Amino acid sequence: VTAVRIGLLGCGTVGQAVVRALSDGGAPITRASGHRVEIGPILVRDPDRRRPGVDPSLLTTDVGRILDDPEVAIVVEVMGGIDPALGHLRTALGRGKAVVTANKQLLARHGAELLEQAERSGTELRFEASVCAAIPVIKVLRESLLVAEIEALTGIVNGTTNFVLSEMGRGGLSYADALARAQSLGYAEADPTEDVSGADAAAKLAILASIAFHTRVRLDDVTFEGIERIDRDDMTQAQELGYAVKLLAVARLVDGAVALRVHPALVPQDHRLAAIGGADNAVLVQSRGAGQIMLVGPGAGGTETASAVVADVLSVLGTHRGSFLHNALADAGRPVQPPGESRTPFYVRMHVADRPGVLATVAGVFAEEGLSIESVVQRGQGAGARLVLVLHEGLESCMTAALERLRELPEVSGEPVVLRVLDVAGEGR
Ligand code: NAP
Ligand code: HSE
Repeated sequence: VTAVRIGLLGCGTVGQAVVRALSDGGAPITRASGHRVEIGPILVRDPDRRRPGVDPSLLTTDVGRILDDPEVAIVVEVMGGIDPALGHLRTALGRGKAVVTANKQLLARHGAELLEQAERSGTELRFEASVCAAIPVIKVLRESLLVAEIEALTGIVNGTTNFVLSEMGRGGLSYADALARAQSLGYAEADPTEDVSGADAAAKLAILASIAFHTRVRLDDVTFEGIERIDRDDMTQAQELGYAVKLLAVARLVDGAVALRVHPALVPQDHRLAAIGGADNAVLVQSRGAGQIMLVGPGAGGTETASAVVADVLSVLGTHRGSFLHNALADAGRPVQPPGESRTPFYVRMHVADRPGVLATVAGVFAEEGLSIESVVQRGQGAGARLVLVLHEGLESCMTAALERLRELPEVSGEPVVLRVLDVAGEGR
């Protein structure tokens, strides 16, 4: 196992989360890559600022401690802005250091030059975190859909504005309060005008379109408009007309040319993009080869963005031969839960005899097996009488036991139909 030193430029919302993710993920990164990651030095403006989980002795205001250190093999740029970030990245790449950046404005303006410099220096520049935070959209466009012949990209690519519009649309926070909340949650840019004006989404669209259409697209090529003039009235009117309001980034091939725009748009409420709420992002990719693919997930936030930064760091380190094969990484040794211990709500339909007391008997069986009933409906009469029950979350083993007893009851005919109800509240667990 060899040590690889990673220098950070910036240690704010994203930088601190990167430090945590690289520290917490140290063991699997080493197992996959064969390298042990060493974090630091870390460039900041104010070394006295409190940064939980970050060793203060790693902080510096002298970028030379990172760029002049031959041991720093990878530079993670999470400081934002053009100047001085551009100069630092030119120097880092010029010295053969690999660079991982989350800086979309820098890439949309100077990406071509930086990529050429990386190539000349025999190193690499990676930027998954610059677009749609945790969603691995660059990897999918670059690798999975390389030859898919992409025809169009339609996306919600700014978390802050989607959060603001979602809040206004559901009658929650006002524009100003929602924006302030997005800032406090770490979604917004240092200058949130970049978000609300559409400039952030335009930079991301330039990056996505460059990869999707194998064509250099720069920020200046993207026409953009923001959400500043939208008020609650527009949201209500749009809803009454059957639409949601979304800030869309659209790139499509029109007669062989790449057409690009970012603007707020009315999206039919039954369209997949209308359901993307909060700070989530989504990119709908239309291609000849693969049809429609939609990538959805968290589009902003420190931890979410750090996930993409770490993925790029791992790509730079490379995975050693066999690390993803033969279950080499399946060594956490966690127990597997027996099927009977899974918990879900249930829907049960059964044919029953149409006579008094049947419901009480059936309800009694469920109660004795530890399952509680949320609702019961009786449908049909006589031979066609059916009970439809919805039960609160319970153990699979309890349902198995209840079914065994129900099958024995003379009042129940045929095999009950049991469906599990998707536990939406448990999706994040
Ligand atoms: P942030 O919280 O403002 O952090 C910026 C960091 O860079 C701070 O630690 C700051 O130092 C340091 N810094 C800035 N200018 C500097 C300078 N001239 N010299 C030395 N240090 C400097 O920003 P962030 O939200 O983490 O975003 C960082 C980058 O990630 C931006 O390019 C942004 O577009 C991108 N990004 C952010 C998100 C997100 O959800 N936040 C998502 C994807 C991509 P101090 O702490 O001392 O001020
Ligand atoms: N400010 C950006 C957003 C961060 O809200 O989408 C993620 O790039």
